[in-house]
Amino acid sequence: MPDAAQILQKYAKPVPRYTSYPTAPHFNPGIGGAILPEMISAATGGERISAYMHIPFCDRLCWFCACHTKQTQRYDPVQAYVGSLANEMELYRQQFSRKPVLAHLHLGGGSPSLLKHEDFNRIASALEKTFVIDGQTEISMEIDPNDHGEDLLSGMKRLGVTRVSIGVQDFDPVVQEAINRPQSFEQTRDLLLAVRSLGIQSVNIDALYGLPLQTIERLENTVGGVVDLLPERVALFGYAHVPWMKKHQTMIREDDLPGTLERFEQAQRAEALLTGAGYVKIGIDHFARPGDGLEKAAREGTLRRNFQGYTTDSCKTMLPLGASAIGRAASGYVQNLVPTGQYRTCIDNGKPAAAKGYLFTPADLIRAHVIERLMCDFEFRFEPLPQRFGAMGHDLVKEAVAIARNDEDGLCEADDVAFRIPLPARPFARIVASWFDAHMRQSAFQYSRAV
Ligand SMILES: C[S@@+](CC[C@H](N)C(=O)[O-])C[C@H]1O[C@@H](n2cnc3c(N)ncnc32)[C@H](O)[C@@H]1O
Ligand code: SF4
Repeated sequence: MPDAAQILQKYAKPVPRYTSYPTAPHFNPGIGGAILPEMISAATGGERISAYMHIPFCDRLCWFCACHTKQTQRYDPVQAYVGSLANEMELYRQQFSRKPVLAHLHLGGGSPSLLKHEDFNRIASALEKTFVIDGQTEISMEIDPNDHGEDLLSGMKRLGVTRVSIGVQDFDPVVQEAINRPQSFEQTRDLLLAVRSLGIQSVNIDALYGLPLQTIERLENTVGGVVDLLPERVALFGYAHVPWMKKHQTMIREDDLPGTLERFEQAQRAEALLTGAGYVKIGIDHFARPGDGLEKAAREGTLRRNFQGYTTDSCKTMLPLGASAIGRAASGYVQNLVPTGQYRTCIDNGKPAAAKGYLFTPADLIRAHVIERLMCDFEFRFEPLPQRFGAMGHDLVKEAVAIARNDEDGLCEADDVAFRIPLPARPFARIVASWFDAHMRQSAFQYSRAV
């Protein structure tokens, strides 16, 4: 049984959340363009594909936020940006020899919920022109409850949204003031009722621990409120304090932040409340009701992890749409230009906005596989590795056995069949995954806390 305090002290070094391998700081300038032709040929070759669309605007700025977004009081930059999104889809459309079938679309941000009806309509029209959208297409969207209004509801209906993710973070007014995010329980409940009235059956709520002035008691009340809202899924993230990357986080007083052990205890308490309320823990930070798609995938070993977190999306190709959006093809990752102005200039001049990317080496593919399985299933089996990856598979099995042998803290184990993270060590899964990360060994990049 690992001693949490000792482990947290020993492995204080920040580690990635492994929503990709290699992680985004390892993407290289200029590589992205090389991936695009492969994406286009996969998309027109009959494969079902996914797309991620980024809306980098918010009408408020929460001080904890680590997303690529910009606060705007005026709507015209958003409207202009939607024009560029439509142009980007048109650029793809011109290169598709036939319309690809869209399996999943995720609209993230920022806050896609701030769009006006006419822009939801422009996006929906461009999507319909570019892709086949059928009864199976899942369209998910992130919503800031502050944006609740007629435009949002009619826009979601026009887009055919099937799944929403609502940001709560914390319901306590003291914590909300410390993060500049006032949001009452009633406001969130009313949005949820409106979402349900549209026939949307799948709702996720995001909550955070490790926030300034958050205590176990305040978190308990927040989790209680979340449970009362009956979402199908809950994402419980640890607040990532990265003021060297996000200047507005300097508005948060570091003295108000809970310490590492306190964060750990908060995560454990929130988990106990959620599982006590009938949710099943999925991977490191998600919870789902029994029978939900994510829970079923976790049970059946088909859970996947991508830039949006845990998912049932198994498409090999994901198109990036919008500034900073990351896409994926069988051979690697591609990321669009991050600054909104530069992205728009490129697209509006008829050029793809791919700025960075990563081409997988064969060694990356096997490490990506084992890291994804550890993050999803907390284990990987040895038998498929040599079958799938040849000699490298044998080497990785040897490496895994050596890692388990050298581990003095009970964080992992290996037998003849598999490498595993035992149940009590699962809060430290990111640390164990990082032992298989060949890039991290050479990296100077600073990630967020492991727990
Ligand atoms: C794009 S935002 C959510 C959508 C919407 N804008 C909102 O705030 O409700 C996605 C989620 O990322 C999480 N997030 C943002 N900044 C974070 C940070 N610094 N650490 C951990 N999670 C963070 C929050 O839980 C947030 O709900
Ligand atoms: S948390 Fe959501 S609303 Fe707040 S700044 Fe970030 S993206 Fe915008």
